[in-house]
Amino acid sequence: MKNILVTGGCGFIGSNFLRLMCTKYPNYNFVNLDKLTYAGNLENLDGVNSANYFFEKVDICDSLKVKTVFEKYAIDTVINFAAESHVDRSIFGAFDFIQTNIVGTQILLENAKEFQVEKFLQISTDEVYGSLSDTGKFTETTPLHPNSTYSASKSSADLIALAYHHTFGLNVLITRCSNNYGPYQFPEKLIPLMIINALNNISLPIYGNGMNVRDWLYVEDHCLAIDSVLHIGKFGEVYNIGGNNEWRNIDIVKLILKKLNKPESLIAFVKDRLGHDFRYAIDSSKITNELNWKPIYDFENGISNTINWYLENKTWWKKIISGEYKNYYKLQYEKARS
Ligand code: NAD
Ligand code: TYD
Repeated sequence: MKNILVTGGCGFIGSNFLRLMCTKYPNYNFVNLDKLTYAGNLENLDGVNSANYFFEKVDICDSLKVKTVFEKYAIDTVINFAAESHVDRSIFGAFDFIQTNIVGTQILLENAKEFQVEKFLQISTDEVYGSLSDTGKFTETTPLHPNSTYSASKSSADLIALAYHHTFGLNVLITRCSNNYGPYQFPEKLIPLMIINALNNISLPIYGNGMNVRDWLYVEDHCLAIDSVLHIGKFGEVYNIGGNNEWRNIDIVKLILKKLNKPESLIAFVKDRLGHDFRYAIDSSKITNELNWKPIYDFENGISNTINWYLENKTWWKKIISGEYKNYYKLQYEKARS
């Protein structure tokens, strides 16, 4: 590997990945291809101006421009983070999800095939498996049962990538990770939204009764897992990645309030999300046993780092919440007020 195309590198996980990897691998070139949607922010890469980092503002659905980037940088490896990633937005409208997550991924795969890349890593999600009841965990052989247009579009991309491996022998690797948290996460997602609202002394909207469960992984641990899969993963294989760290939403929100010394009276139970998946839990024993990966951060450290980051980077999120995000917030939460 020499020239790695990282799509969606201006988003939450992609920018954390580039921050770590541009330093860790000075001999690789990293080309960040990003459309800069509402979720893409060049400021997420501030300070990453190393000689091995390049940026191209391109939509993965624009096949001609994508092809130009493959040629220009002699791309030999692809890591596809680019996606529409928020379930609530997929409920407002699925068009961009189908376009970017499915059509865009197919365009990248087609270019990867044409340019005979060495590896194609598709960043998928545990949400492809659907929802669990109180017991059990998703393994790599759990049948896919996506419930939202977000997860259905991610499932399609995941399966299309595997089909390129099966049919054309493309060296595809798939990761399916649980919920990430950490620095640079866009404020629409649970943890940053709750931290920011608590800091602003405005209500913390919990969907339904707050009993839904997610498995939370610190973003740096996800990036290190991707690093392992990229280097030593077996082609055509799927790797689950999780934190073994299940929390009910209500408990996370109470923990954030406690850490910020804010009252629980800020909590507001609002109308439930449509089709709200009850529980996600990941069995990540395959990546631990085969690739020797396990999380470094425990939740106590991870959530403290995250809260501190949002405390220390108010300019970053204040700029976001005062822009277009204001309209989204109004639309989403006026509707949700019960
Ligand atoms: P994000 O929404 O923060 O970032 C997405 C990035 O993709 C943005 O920079 C955006 O500008 C870019 N993008 C969107 N459409 C594009 C297009 N058509 N062409 C080029 N760039 C485009 O998302 P994230 O949370 O960083 O998630 C990254 C990936 O990881 C996604 O594929 C997501 O499905 C997956 N994932 C996320 C989580 C999580 O908890 N956040 C968990 C598991 C998997
Ligand atoms: P989210 O961060 O959107 O991730 P995902 O839906 O992909 O798991 O939401 C995490 C959980 O938090 C999910 O059960 C929905 C819930 N949630 C709320 O209760 N209130 C909110 O304002 C948000 C954004 C999420």
